[in-house]
Order: sequence, then structure tokens, then C-alpha cells
Amino acid sequence: METIAKFFGFLALGSFGATVMNFITKYIKKNFYQYIKKYKIVDKYFPILVTIFVKYHKIWGLMAVGGLLLHFSIMWTINGISITGIIAGCILGLQVLLGIYGSKQKKKRSGAWFILHRIISLLLIVTILGHLLFKA
Ligand code: HEM
Ligand code: HEM
Repeated sequence: METIAKFFGFLALGSFGATVMNFITKYIKKNFYQYIKKYKIVDKYFPILVTIFVKYHKIWGLMAVGGLLLHFSIMWTINGISITGIIAGCILGLQVLLGIYGSKQKKKRSGAWFILHRIISLLLIVTILGHLLFKA
């Protein structure tokens, strides 16, 4: 059972990583793509990365929260509460709600919600790392 719970933990972790790739893929596109697109492999595969991480950003976010809910409910039953996990989990839940709110706004990449969405991503990296290092 613990293996399954861990699997869902890694699913949440991997999907979270994919949501952050939204930013990284766009950053590369804006700053480096013009220089590296002359390489055939980049020209062929980079647009696929954009589809995976930018177009399907919402799906990755929802998968992260789905994995978290399964991870949390199994871990809670067999191992009890993990404070570092609860902190990371609550922030992830907030982030997903904020993302849903933002995706309903007209201007998707501006305003307070967007700044907050980016800041929370950094906060999540720290709190999730904290959870992996100190599982307590
Ligand atoms: C963003 C949210 C979370 C992520 C990404 C996450 C991810 C993970 C991962 C990948 C592991 C396995 C670590 C390893 O095997 O070295 C783990 C372990 C664990 N998680 Fe989470 N977790 C999250 C939230 C939570 C929550 C809310 C709980 C509350 C019950 C929790 C409870 C645990 C426990 C008890 C372990 C330790 C299992 C052991 O003894 O090795 N996690 N988590
Ligand atoms: C683990 C959860 C999530 C994380 C860590 C996350 C992270 C991010 C980051 C870093 C950006 C900025 C990208 C940039 O700089 O352009 C962004 C943009 C955005 N996110 Fe999320 N996000 C999450 C979940 C969601 C969800 C569930 C939704 C909606 C259902 C969502 C909707 C959006 C929208 C609409 C944008 C702006 C437009 C775009 O870049 O696609 N996010 N997110």
C-alpha cells in the first residue's frame, strides 16, 4: 500500500514539475529559440515540448492535485499526518484554485493573480523539497 501511496506522491511531484516547465519552455522560446532553431532536432522537437507543457498546462495542474489527493488519503490512513506534506499540499491546492480562476480571466498573463501564481510556484518548490527531505 505504501508503494502505491509513494507512486501517487511521485505522480504529484512529476506533474508539478511539468507545470513549472510551462515557464521554462516559454523562457527558452523567448530568449534562446531564435539561436537554436537552426538545429534540426530542436526545430523538430521543440514545438512538441510547447504543446506538452504550455498547451496542456491545466491538465498537468489537475493531475498534480489528483495525485496529491490519492497520495494524501493513503498516507494519512497508513502513516498518519505529515506536517511538511500538509503545508505543501495546501499550497498546491491553493495554486490550482488560483489557476482555475486565472484561466477564466480575459487577460491571462497579467494582473495580481498571475504574479501570485508565479510566486506560489517558487514557494511550492521550497515546500515540496522540504517535504521530501523531512517527511515528518
Ligand atoms: C505537494 C504535495 C506532495 C507531494 C508532491 C508529495 C510527494 C511525496 C513523495 C514523492 C514521497 C516519497 C518520498 C520517498 O520515497 O523518498 C512522499 C512521502 C510521504 N508523503 Fe508526501 N507529498 C505531498 C503531500 C503530502 C501530504 C499532504 C501528506 C499527508 C499525509 C503526505 C505524506 C507523506 C508521508 C507520510 C510520506 C513518507 C512515506 C515514508 O515513510 O517514506 N504527503 N511524498
Ligand atoms: C501545480 C499547479 C500549478 C503550477 C505550479 C502552475 C504554475 C504556473 C506558472 C509558473 C505559470 C507562469 C508561466 C509563464 O510565466 O508564462 C502559469 C501560468 C498559468 N497557469 Fe498555472 N500552474 C498550476 C496549475 C494551474 C491550473 C490547474 C490552471 C487552470 C486550470 C492554471 C492556469 C494557468 C494559466 C491560465 C496561466 C497563464 C497562461 C499560460 O501560461 O498558459 N495553472 N502557471
